[in-house]
Amino acid sequence: MNVLFEKIDRIVIAKLNRPKALNALNSELMHELISGLLEYDKSPEIGCIIITGNKKAFCAGADIKEMAEKDFTAMFNEDYFGYWEIFSRIKTPIIAAVNGYAFGGGCELAMMCDIIYASENAQFGQPEIKLGVIPGIGGTQRLTKLVGKSKAMEIILTGKTINAEEAEKIGLITQVLPKENFTKQIIKKAHLIASYSKTALKAAKEATNQALESSLKDGIVFERKLFHSLFHTQNQTEGMSAFLEKRTPNFN
Ligand code: HXC
Repeated sequence: MNVLFEKIDRIVIAKLNRPKALNALNSELMHELISGLLEYDKSPEIGCIIITGNKKAFCAGADIKEMAEKDFTAMFNEDYFGYWEIFSRIKTPIIAAVNGYAFGGGCELAMMCDIIYASENAQFGQPEIKLGVIPGIGGTQRLTKLVGKSKAMEIILTGKTINAEEAEKIGLITQVLPKENFTKQIIKKAHLIASYSKTALKAAKEATNQALESSLKDGIVFERKLFHSLFHTQNQTEGMSAFLEKRTPNFN
């Protein structure tokens, strides 16, 4: 098993499990991760997913051993890593919990998640340039949107490593958390998210992501339509009634 899934109440932890290769992303791991996530995404019970690695590595990138054997024809015909696009169809909120290295495809995987928490010892980078290639799972695009062109260019063109503190400062990640009880702190945050209406969470994720895809005018119309549609849900009635009745909402 290249990925271990653990369900705790309304959350799921997907732990990358190739420690000897620092959780490098090979095709098997990618398929296991994505097919597992798609299953949990369908479940109305699951309100938040955490993707994590181990203390040394979140993920050291795409598997260089697997890629080294391929030529252009193989990469092109297999549409190597094209399968990752399915990841962005997952509607459940996803948190990346980054300990240790998040390099290359590992940094790109983190950026595909909705929130990135890093422990104090996490390190980020896009070192592909040192291998004679460039990021290939969205790194040039997502990093630029997150940190701006100037910072992204420096990271991608030099292959430099940045620490967790700097990653938070430039807006690559959400927050650095103390390394003690790192996973526990994130599980608590995931439980909070998962306690809300799943339909509202999915709508919130979709609308927020739309900000990266459309003009402000179109994005606002998109958001308003989703907002209106939530008035079809029992959880909207429950959430608003609970507020007025001064009680905790009980979302289904
Ligand atoms: C395959 C990897 C790997 C990787 C590490 N390993 N990273 N195997 N693919 N990306 C393996 C090593 O070969 C080694 O295996 C074992 O993990 C431990 O790694 P070490 O190098 O011995 O550990 P350490 O000295 O602590 O150095 C850690 C490291 C270094 C700094 C993270 O491993 C490293 O630089 N890794 C490569 C990082 C990288 O370039 N990532 C980008 C990949 S390209 P053995 O068998 O020797 O014990 C990419 C492109 C994405 O991601 C786009 C795809 C389309």
